[in-house]
Amino acid sequence: MDFSSFTGAIDKKRTPCLLVGIYDKLKLSPGAETINRASDGTLARILKREQFKARPGDTLLLHQLPGCRADRILAVGLGKKKDLGPAQYAKSVDAAIKALTSTPSKRALCALLDVQVEKADPRWKARQLAMRFGQGCYRFTTMKSEEGDLPVLSHVDFHIGDKAHGEAVEKGAREGGSIASGMNFAKDLANLPGNVCTPAYLAEQAQELADRHAPIKATILEEREMEKLGMGALLSVSRGSRQPAKLIVLEYRGAKSKDKPIALVGKGLTFDAGGISLKPAQNMDEMKYDMCGGASVLGTFQAVAEMALPLNLVGIIPASENLPDGEANKPGDIVKTMAGKTVEILNTDAEGRLILCDALTYTQKFDPELVIDIATLTGACVVALGHHASGLLGNDESLCRDILEAGKTSLDRAWQLPLWDEYREQLKSNFADMANIGGRDAGTITAACFLARFTEKFKWAHLDIAGTAWHSGNNKGATGRPVPLLTQFLLDKAG
Ligand code: BES
Ligand code: MN
Ligand code: ZN
Repeated sequence: MDFSSFTGAIDKKRTPCLLVGIYDKLKLSPGAETINRASDGTLARILKREQFKARPGDTLLLHQLPGCRADRILAVGLGKKKDLGPAQYAKSVDAAIKALTSTPSKRALCALLDVQVEKADPRWKARQLAMRFGQGCYRFTTMKSEEGDLPVLSHVDFHIGDKAHGEAVEKGAREGGSIASGMNFAKDLANLPGNVCTPAYLAEQAQELADRHAPIKATILEEREMEKLGMGALLSVSRGSRQPAKLIVLEYRGAKSKDKPIALVGKGLTFDAGGISLKPAQNMDEMKYDMCGGASVLGTFQAVAEMALPLNLVGIIPASENLPDGEANKPGDIVKTMAGKTVEILNTDAEGRLILCDALTYTQKFDPELVIDIATLTGACVVALGHHASGLLGNDESLCRDILEAGKTSLDRAWQLPLWDEYREQLKSNFADMANIGGRDAGTITAACFLARFTEKFKWAHLDIAGTAWHSGNNKGATGRPVPLLTQFLLDKAG
């Protein structure tokens, strides 16, 4: 998807489709006003005749209005002017893109930057628009023998009413385009089935990402190297699988080499059957998405490299499968982590924390400024927060605040849960330094407590994306989250 800006008169511009905003009670946005005047009031007459409600999510497609050169005009409902906040705007824009992509328009002129959105500047609006256009045209078809009807939209012109906003809009559009490309990369990896997207495949994709972007370097650690490092927890999960584990290490250099890197650690479990503590059959296919944390790290690296952000990043993705097998972990087994602590594996399905704890310990080698791990870690997080917010826990309040803020800005929100010492008790083991599960209560918190025992040496936050990384049901598919949150966090850090 390409974006450009247009500063001329929208009624005079030839385009397959022009998007204009309409408020509640058919009040017109500046763009709609221009079209209404050019068409001698036809726009307002049609909206009235069709009883257009103009709520966020409502759209109406019109054809060839007199006095206007657009083949189509898409009226986009925005709701009440005074209620137009970021969430309503996003809803309106998504509906507009859905309606637009069901027309054969290859190009569109978008006049949705001329509306006031609470707490939003032109750069934010352009970033959201570009990101949403990029998302709205995404389809996963690589595993189908026939592609079917794909959206043909490939270019969007953003109308800039006030030339003073030109630079901000162009900057925002470029950022949004990069975020969308990172999200779509993450979605592709996530939507691939477990028999294609194996640990080795993820490692290849990381290598290819590094080949595409000079500031990114990829290193893949093999099992024998993990053995030398003493990664007994990670390797114990992989032992039950015929696919060798990979530890993917990405380095992005965008700042001076003395600047400490920000580390992103992503769970890359390419299929989670639960191991000997086997999961029930229903919806088990969705456990191909258990690598979405890793995919979000790869997607974020792609977005950051495209934006050429001036910071240093490290990405660590422990990649493995979790399957039942004669060599698999058994309940009661005790393994030794790279940090030297021993873990009693009371449930082999709590494998994410086992691969992550060694990856987190390894992260220390890079002397990071801060570490964020991203993982589809607990079903309990879906029970607690549903599908709207990712769970956030961490050992540094100011880091948590920054992440929450980035989530609000990007509309890819997180919600913090407490990481109090009291919960640690639940991980006590009679036989090892700790157990890998903490019972039924507060499952998301006890999982984070487990990780916290391996992150004491740095500022750390954990995102549990079990409820946000993919959609189930008829719209089953990866969401690309939390790439928007992570890139926004990094944009904020880059200043
Ligand atoms: N990958 C799962 C978590 C998960 C489950 C995410 C369902 C999304 C939907 C993780 O490895 C897991 O199995 N966690 C267990 C932990 C339990 C055994 C303490 C869970 O949540 O049931
Ligand atoms: Mn599991
Ligand atoms: Zn898992």
